[in-house]
Amino acid sequence: MKKILVAVDGSDASVKGVKAALALAGPLGASLTLVSVVPPIMLPGDAPWAPMDEINHAEQQRAQRALTESIAALEPSTVKMSTRILLGPIAETLAQLAEAEGFDLVVVGSTGKGAVKRVLLGSVADRLVHTCTRPVLVVR
Ligand SMILES: Nc1ncnc2c1ncn2[C@@H]1O[C@H](COP(=O)(O)OP(=O)(O)OP(=O)(O)O)[C@@H](O)[C@H]1O
Ligand SMILES: [Mg+2]
Repeated sequence: MKKILVAVDGSDASVKGVKAALALAGPLGASLTLVSVVPPIMLPGDAPWAPMDEINHAEQQRAQRALTESIAALEPSTVKMSTRILLGPIAETLAQLAEAEGFDLVVVGSTGKGAVKRVLLGSVADRLVHTCTRPVLVVR
């Protein structure tokens, strides 16, 4: 196992996921790629998926903060780490990246920022488990 992709939205569950991924990556000699996806904004009318520059800029800053804070929450380590921000539908974008770049494992939190307390598996985690062609680890 050489390349681990970690899905980051800045939630407590995703920080748990990052910590679990780091714990795996150390002994395995794997690298971590922390990815935060900015979903396109839904607009009424003819172009429902057209991204809007300003909102997207704010969302990208939020994604950047989530990545920075996740790394700050980690114990210092020698594991190779990089971060990426991608634009697109969240689960599909993560699954595509995992397949296109041959990640050995995708790590995702069970819930995220939108957590309604009774939900045990958020929609991004659920979709990823159902559609991703690479192994997926759901961290609780
Ligand atoms: N925008 C995102 N970019 C990267 N990873 C994400 C993103 N959103 C969620 N994730 C990943 O998916 C995990 C589960 O979050 P998910 O969004 O499925 O749950 P939720 O927010 O509680 O529910 P929902 O979004 O369906 O209301 C997070 O811990 C994180 O690992
Ligand atoms: Mg969510």
